[in-house]
Amino acid sequence: MSEMQTIQWFPGHMTKTKRQIQASLKLVDAVAEIIDARIPVSSRNPDLNHLIQNKPRVILMNKCDMANQTATKMWIDYYAKQGITAIAVDCKSGRNLNKFPAVVDAVMKKKIDRLKAKGMKNPTMRIMIVGIPNVGKSSFINKIAKQNRAKVEDRPGVTRGNQWFTISKNLEMLDTPGVLWPKFDDKVVGEHLAFTGAVKDQVIDIELLAVRLLDFLKKLKPAEFIERFKLTDLDLENTDSYDLLQLIGKKRGMLISGGEIDTERAAIMLLDEFRAAKLGRVTVEMPNGALK
Ligand code: G4P
Repeated sequence: MSEMQTIQWFPGHMTKTKRQIQASLKLVDAVAEIIDARIPVSSRNPDLNHLIQNKPRVILMNKCDMANQTATKMWIDYYAKQGITAIAVDCKSGRNLNKFPAVVDAVMKKKIDRLKAKGMKNPTMRIMIVGIPNVGKSSFINKIAKQNRAKVEDRPGVTRGNQWFTISKNLEMLDTPGVLWPKFDDKVVGEHLAFTGAVKDQVIDIELLAVRLLDFLKKLKPAEFIERFKLTDLDLENTDSYDLLQLIGKKRGMLISGGEIDTERAAIMLLDEFRAAKLGRVTVEMPNGALK
């Protein structure tokens, strides 16, 4: 899967992106980091802490509709212990997005109080969205924009060309998200990103990826996965994952001439179904265990 490293991000590209994000960061008081609730480790940018320094942040665990609910709660507690506020959101349905302004307010309280104490009447806080490709940044911004139609024009001191959405009385959001790169030099991270479809399939050995996914599903045994492929009678953990892929292909009647099983088609189908959460609401990475 080494080809994965060559896509999307090149050193020059990263430097440019970093500069753009640093420029935007100067305009905002806080950062909302969007991550994929199914892979909270792999969907985070490794340099974000360094980039945002001490700026307050909120973590939006997006796609929570596809993640395991207990796991999402565990992650939220895990972040809370580190002093970070995280909320589970679903930018497809818009679930929990209404909580966003209040959560940001709470995170910004110290700064708001400080400004008020200095005599500022209604300090307006500004926030920007950051995240790696495909985590749902545009979906988030579109949903929030729909709920909050009023766009604010540039104000003095704010670079021309920036658009801001008013999302509550004292909160504005930059309409352009910061696109960050994942930790793509880590093989497991690459695999987990590929499980969710965050990385393009053309550059991946799809059968190998499906086998890796089966390694994981075999241990976790989500009920929907077992049910869908009728695997109840199988000693899953002692079944080789490639054999399992063949079995799944056979059960779906995916044969090529000569009666052989079309494992490539089976792999594509398995990944498609996983990505659509048809094999259950699966969280691939758990707190503490970090990467599985
Ligand atoms: P980005 O700006 O960070 O790159 O991500 P974007 O919003 O384009 O979202 C990437 C994909 O993830 C989109 O699917 C989007 O619909 C989906 N998505 C975003 N948030 C959620 C969520 O909370 N739950 C679910 N289930 N899906 C979400 P797509 O297949 O690329 O497009 P489409 O299905 O919207 O046509």
